Amino acid sequence: MTGRIANPHLSSLVTSADQAASLIRDGDAIGMSGFTGSGYPKALPAALAARIGAAHERGEQFSVKMFTGASTAPDCDGVLAAADGVSLRAPYQSDPAMRAKINDGTSGYADVHLSHFHHQVVQRFFGPLDWAIVEATAITADGELVPSTSLGLNRTYLEHASRVIIEVNQWQSPELFGLHDVYYGTEAAPPNREPIPLVHPGDIIGQPTLRVDPSKVAAVVLTDHHDRNAPFKPPDADSAAIAGHLLDFLGAEVKAGRLPANLLPLQSGVGNIANAVLVGLLGSGLAGLNSFTEVIQDGLIDLLDAGIVDVASATAFSFSPEYAARLNQRAHEYRGRVVLRPQDVSNSAEVIRRLGCISCNGMIEADIYGNVNSTHVAGTRMQNGIGGSGDFTRNAHISCFVSPSTAKDGAISAIVPMVSHHDHTEHDVHVIITEQGLADLRGLAPRQRVAKIIDNCAHPSYRPLLHEYFERALRVTKGLQTPHDLATALSFHTRFLETGSMHP
Ligand code: COA
Repeated sequence: MTGRIANPHLSSLVTSADQAASLIRDGDAIGMSGFTGSGYPKALPAALAARIGAAHERGEQFSVKMFTGASTAPDCDGVLAAADGVSLRAPYQSDPAMRAKINDGTSGYADVHLSHFHHQVVQRFFGPLDWAIVEATAITADGELVPSTSLGLNRTYLEHASRVIIEVNQWQSPELFGLHDVYYGTEAAPPNREPIPLVHPGDIIGQPTLRVDPSKVAAVVLTDHHDRNAPFKPPDADSAAIAGHLLDFLGAEVKAGRLPANLLPLQSGVGNIANAVLVGLLGSGLAGLNSFTEVIQDGLIDLLDAGIVDVASATAFSFSPEYAARLNQRAHEYRGRVVLRPQDVSNSAEVIRRLGCISCNGMIEADIYGNVNSTHVAGTRMQNGIGGSGDFTRNAHISCFVSPSTAKDGAISAIVPMVSHHDHTEHDVHVIITEQGLADLRGLAPRQRVAKIIDNCAHPSYRPLLHEYFERALRVTKGLQTPHDLATALSFHTRFLETGSMHP
């Protein structure tokens, strides 16, 4: 195992997770690796949770501020949440235990655009960073880290934390070397910031390894544990219909001469629906596509293998067990075709706008004017967070949102009179897609969008209610730019909270 650590000094720092966790103090701020269940530390979180639990049993206060790239897993977010160990979490999470602690007020949660978090850490909005705890695949002879299955904010945390703990995970394939492009050019703050010199998703502008100041390293811990690796739901009829509508739309854009035959770089959000949309591209007849996105899921690997996608750029993998095993055996085959970047590059507004990405993200709800809520159920309960959806949506060449038209067996409509929380405004949202159909909102004023969104996207059982609302809003306001009857604008949500259904 120590064959993975070629640097003698760092090799001499190998210790147990418990020993390393004993260095962490109440109130410390920790920047951890980890993005969409990949590349997060596997041993330290549990050891730290045990230490926190023991302190609580003694009646002592003990919690930490926990920052990552994005979501991690039950053995990272989950164990620390269960120990009531996190006072503040940022910038994104999706773990059920952490979500519960955020919503019951135990843990504060700063839900931040993923592209913004690097500078918020550097500028110490969250105070000084005490620790970087970062998983690596290996340590080179000159003491640099071969990253594992995500890059996220590892570069930022290693550069800006006072002390560092490295987890070297033998489960991660040594073949991962060469898939990362660690760019060090985003450190300068305005007015000295330079353009990121990336003009194609496959461009290499940095180095394959992460630098770390050896004098800051306090401990190295050895692990041998898989990533979260949750299997994806097989695409169902709804997700297949959503993928079909998107493909028809993109085909029409090509025919109209607004997109080239191989489209523009695709960004695809996290989760089952996004994965199913990618699976839908398999039978599309398209070729020579590129992807500039945040996460590479199973569907994108299939597209690379089928030769439909030439190059995919992201900041993390997020695979089912089958695809994780496949990557571990065959990572070298993807060199030059798969590039993982720090998230302030993968999600950079400047680069997304220049490349002209086509974004496609999940949503909780959209309203009849095209505003989108990605984060809060019934306006108050945090689901996951905004993640990179804002980075891509605001800057995309074409921004799309996808969702089934209903949730919870039809009790909830994804199309509502007014969104109960606002993440993406009508100005940023170009296309809304449900299994019912697609609403292309480009070129339309708010009142012109209403019929398209209701008739193309809402579930038929909610259409009369939505039309009724719009007519009432028109009467009450006698027109206006964006008619709303404020007395009933959130009536779908209040009815759901009172009765368990948005249906009367
Ligand atoms: N009201 C209440 N609950 C809703 C809902 C609504 N309008 N819409 C969806 N849900 C619930 C679903 O029932 C499901 O609940 P469950 O886990 O208890 O079954 C859950 O939200 C997930 O919904 P699902 O339909 O499976 O879609 P998804 O996995 O694609 O997730 C989001 C949808 C919006 C939660 C997800 O896309 C997200 O977190 N987006 C924000 C971050 C993002 O876009 N990241 C990518 C950027 S690169």
